[in-house]
Amino acid sequence: MAWTNQRNKQLVERARKVIPGGMYGHQSAAILPDVFPQFFSRAEGARLWDADGNEYIDYMCAYGPNLLGYRHPAVEAAAAAQQRLGDSMTGPSEIMVDLAEKFVSLVTHADWVIFCKNGTDATTMAMTTARAHTRKRKILVATKAYHGSAPWCNPNLTGILPEERAHLVPYQYNNPASLQDAFRANAGDVAGLFASAFRHDVFEDQDLPTREYAETARALCDDSGALLIVDDVRAGFRLARDCSWSKVGVQPDLSAWGKAIANGYALSALAGSEKARAAVQTIFVTGSYWFQAIPMATAIATLHEIEHSDYLEHTEKTGSMLRDGLARQAASYGFGLRQTGPVQLPMILFEDDPDLRLGYCWVSEALTRGVYFHPWHNNFICGALTENDVQMTLNVTDQAFAALKKRRPTLGPVEQLQARFARMRA
Ligand SMILES: Cc1ncc(COP(=O)(O)O)c(C=O)c1O
Repeated sequence: MAWTNQRNKQLVERARKVIPGGMYGHQSAAILPDVFPQFFSRAEGARLWDADGNEYIDYMCAYGPNLLGYRHPAVEAAAAAQQRLGDSMTGPSEIMVDLAEKFVSLVTHADWVIFCKNGTDATTMAMTTARAHTRKRKILVATKAYHGSAPWCNPNLTGILPEERAHLVPYQYNNPASLQDAFRANAGDVAGLFASAFRHDVFEDQDLPTREYAETARALCDDSGALLIVDDVRAGFRLARDCSWSKVGVQPDLSAWGKAIANGYALSALAGSEKARAAVQTIFVTGSYWFQAIPMATAIATLHEIEHSDYLEHTEKTGSMLRDGLARQAASYGFGLRQTGPVQLPMILFEDDPDLRLGYCWVSEALTRGVYFHPWHNNFICGALTENDVQMTLNVTDQAFAALKKRRPTLGPVEQLQARFARMRA
C-alpha cells in the first residue's frame, strides 16, 4: 500500500477544534516533520500502524513504555485474567503485595515501593520524601534534565510561579566539581539530589554517568544527610535488571520508575531504602487510579519476563546491530552521524546540523518508507525487535541516506522548530 496521510490530516483538523493546540505534551506531532502522523490505530510487537493504516517498525516504543513488545502475550494474558476479577476497587488487590515483594527483590537498594501512575507522580513524591526526611529545602537538579511536567520540574515556565521552583539548584550532569559547588553554596539546606539514569536531554548528545560523578553524588549526600534520587523513569529496566546506577556501582536512597514497568499499562513507582521509610510514611500521597489491579497484574508479568527472559541481552544485540549499520551507511554517503548513549536508547543526530534540517529530512525519508525514528529525542529498542527487523530498517535507512544526499542542497531551516529554538535560547 502506498504511504498516505489523508485520514491523519482530517483528524488533526478535527482535533484542532476540540483539543487545545490540536494536541498537547510530548506526544504532539506539531513540531515533528510534516509527514509524521499524530494518530495511530494499533501496535503489535515492534510494529505500529498509523490512522491511515501505514505500518512502521517503531523505534519510539510509546516514548518508553513498550519494553518487551506491544501486546506481549504474557502481559496481555495477565491483563485479561485480572480484567475478569476487577480493576478499580474500594481497596487494592492482594497482588499489590506480590508486586511490591517482586519489585524490592529485583531492585537492590529498594526496601519499599509506592505505586502510582506517571513518572511525574514518582519524581514529585521523591522530592517530598527527601524534604520530609531531611527537613531541608534545596533540591539539586542537573541543567536540562527532564523529571516530569509538575510545576517544580516543567521545562516550560508558562503559568508557573518562580516561588514553585525557588529551592531548585542547578548543577552540571557528570561534573563532580559542579556538584561540590552546589552543595557548598547551599550547605546545611540540601534535601535531595536528582540524577537521571544517564544524561538523556532532548536535542543533545547523550552521556553515561561516570563512576567519579556517581560516587561524588553518593558521598556528598552521605556527608550532608541529603537523599540521592535516581530518576529511572525513562531508562528503568532497559540498562539493567536493577536500578540503572547499579551499572556504576552506586546505590541511591530513592529511585523513580514508570514507563516500562508494566509494559505499557499505567503504572509508575517510587522505590526507597530503609533510611527513607520513616519519612515516606509521614507524607500523604494518593490518586483515584493508583490502586488499579490490571496494571499491577501486568507489572508482575513484565517483571517476570525481565527476570527470566533474555530481553536485555537481545536489545543490546539488536541495538548494536542498528548502531553499527547506521554508522557504516552514514559514512558511505558522506554524513557524520552522532549516535550516543546506550544502544538500547539511541540518540541519533547528524554532524554539522545545528538546525536539524538534515535530521528532519532523514527521518522523514525513513518514515514514508516504514521506519519511525525521532529526530531529537532518544529512541528506544524493544525486546520484540528482531535481527530481521533491523535488517529491514537498514534497507530503508540506506534509501533515506541516498534521498538525503540528493535533497541536501535544497534543504532550508525547519520552520516548526523555530519557536522551540527561540525558547531554548531565551
Ligand atoms: C526521566 C524522566 N523522568 C520523569 C518523566 C515523567 O514521566 P511521566 O510523563 O510519566 O509523568 C519522564 C517522562 O518522559 C522521564 O523521561
